[in-house]
Amino acid sequence: MPKLCVNVDHVATIRQARMTNEPDPVAAALSAEHSGAIGITIHLREDRRHIQDRDLRLMREVVRGKLNMEMAPVEEMREIALEIRPDQATLVPERREEITTEGGLDAAGQIARLPEIIEPLRSAGILISLFVDPVGSQLEAAQRLGADYVELNTAAYSEARGWEAIGKELRTLEEGAVRAHAMGLGVHAGHGLTYLNVAPVVNLPHLEELNIGHSIVAHAVFVGFERAVREMADLVGQNRAS
Ligand code: PXP
Repeated sequence: MPKLCVNVDHVATIRQARMTNEPDPVAAALSAEHSGAIGITIHLREDRRHIQDRDLRLMREVVRGKLNMEMAPVEEMREIALEIRPDQATLVPERREEITTEGGLDAAGQIARLPEIIEPLRSAGILISLFVDPVGSQLEAAQRLGADYVELNTAAYSEARGWEAIGKELRTLEEGAVRAHAMGLGVHAGHGLTYLNVAPVVNLPHLEELNIGHSIVAHAVFVGFERAVREMADLVGQNRAS
């Protein structure tokens, strides 16, 4: 059974809507850990639209489980990660105009440039995960770059409509998970997962962790943050007795 890492970016989105100090994503991180998350994920974007540098610093102090920093593979973020030392850095593509991360990182297309980001992080003892689409060329690039994990992009699965299309995307994810594992890469997955579509993804072979954010924060508006995390942790499986 995979473990749940909760992405608290959108708690910060609500705070930034008023440029005030509530709700605090640091409080959300603590609440998530109490409610069954084994880790906290945050994306420090170049434009600081939700998570701020202060959030990352405070979370480094208070988060007990895994602190996973999503970051664009750029010098500025590399230097911040080297200073703050998250447990894991997940490299994601980033465009200023996008609403959320669109598509996986083109690791294959940047294979010559990425070592200047990855190597210093790895030397500092930070685990490296690459957020990629579940296709052979990207998995091979992740292996060549010495990544510890790939996070398989579940956006195409989440956006698919109709059983046939959903089944096709699920098979692509399964093949990707099997292939990544055979290459010695750990397997994570995430993006666009909800209470309604997560169940089949939980059963992907070799899956260790799921990163889920927006759906949990959305549900928390109605049921409270602790309950929203607990319900997702139950679906992911880690709170089951077996
Ligand atoms: N994984 C990655 C790499 C992401 O960029 C995001 C969104 O920040 C997530 C997982 C979480 O996606 P969602 O908020 O749709 O659950």
